[in-house]
Amino acid sequence: MKEDRQLAKYLAHLGYGSRREMEAAIRRGRVTGQGEDLRFDGEPLDPPPGMVILMNKPAGFTCSRADQGRLVYELLPPRFLLRDPPLSSVGRLDADTTGLLLFTDDGKLLHRLISPKSDLPKTYEATLARPLEGHEADLFASGTLMLRGEDKPLLPAQLEVTGERTARLTITEGRYHQVRRMFAAAGNHVEALHRAAFGPLTLGDLPEGEWRLLTAEEVASLG
Ligand code: URA
Repeated sequence: MKEDRQLAKYLAHLGYGSRREMEAAIRRGRVTGQGEDLRFDGEPLDPPPGMVILMNKPAGFTCSRADQGRLVYELLPPRFLLRDPPLSSVGRLDADTTGLLLFTDDGKLLHRLISPKSDLPKTYEATLARPLEGHEADLFASGTLMLRGEDKPLLPAQLEVTGERTARLTITEGRYHQVRRMFAAAGNHVEALHRAAFGPLTLGDLPEGEWRLLTAEEVASLG
């Protein structure tokens, strides 16, 4: 039946298996329900294209296949990696950075969020090797700080000192290793880095290594 072929194609795009495997699964009655209530082996279907995932990334996982080590995608169901359109992290966090990382299969949303024109604030909590000296907030807020090897100054960023060697930094750009390089430019060294917020989103009580889907309201709040 035509509808079965379309359903098999849809399931294949969600990563459940090949189209042929999905046609066989449908014939064997593994797909039940209708419309919004479709189930596979009794479980609700994964979300349709347009999903956004929020993860509390642990240290030691990389966002890029080009890097050595375990990938953040290993923390998601393996089926998610087989989705078409593909799921991608929204920008990257360094392997040893922890905290809020988004993923989406919505190419337009992805490009909007990682575009240099996006001015969504991202907040990081940094633990530093040496005590803060007191000049850092003005330096970061100046709009004139140049990172080594770059020809455009950084946009103003907001620093809140939270301890002798800890600070909360909010930036609106996402240049390569930006936070670590900013503290290096201020004569310090970042020992630990955690992203606490991405625009209006925070981790709430999501444990490290866990993820959840964003609600439609949360997606809309990203602008
Ligand atoms: N800035 C960094 O230096 N590293 C990150 O992972 C994110 C921002």
